[in-house]
Amino acid sequence: MKLLISEDEIQAAVRRLGEEITRDFQKRDPVVVPILSGSFMFAADLIRQLPFPLEVDFMKVSSYKDSTAPVGPIEIHLEPGTPLKGRPVLIVEDIVDSGGTLIRIIEDMKKAGADPVKVAVLLDKRGRKGKPVPIDYVGIRKECDFVVGYGTDYAGHYRNLSGIYVLDEPDLKL
Ligand code: IMP
Ligand code: MG
Repeated sequence: MKLLISEDEIQAAVRRLGEEITRDFQKRDPVVVPILSGSFMFAADLIRQLPFPLEVDFMKVSSYKDSTAPVGPIEIHLEPGTPLKGRPVLIVEDIVDSGGTLIRIIEDMKKAGADPVKVAVLLDKRGRKGKPVPIDYVGIRKECDFVVGYGTDYAGHYRNLSGIYVLDEPDLKL
């Protein structure tokens, strides 16, 4: 496994995002919606950088199952129970790759009446490929292969690493 983004780099990006989001949201009492499971660690660090009134509610989706590429349609396993009509929402996602997952989630939040819907992403892997998705807060932009750590997984594993790593071929066997 090769280190791609160190714990220090991640934490610096999280602090910067915290400042940007605080500037935009501090008087708006948003609902922060981490997308489970991958963003649990990022969200836990990020919300501690947001020193103003907010609520947290969760959404759980999956598209990758145990592979390193999206498999089939996005499945929604859990939706926020908090009424979102007229509430500002900040979606917190770990990684954007093709953009398909975020496009679907943004659409769902808008259907639920959230307004505005903003998006914070720790890692934007898109480079020049991928669908155009409006992302308001990007932690780190880096074209890369499949990564794990800091909450993100391969087949459910490696979430406990503090940095972000690129998997080598042997790591795919667990
Ligand atoms: P997209 O729908 O192709 O943009 O993929 C984004 C979703 O897939 C996110 O919810 C991520 O959790 C997951 N994902 C994308 N790339 C990776 C990766 O390199 N490692 C772990 N999860 C990933
Ligand atoms: Mg995910």
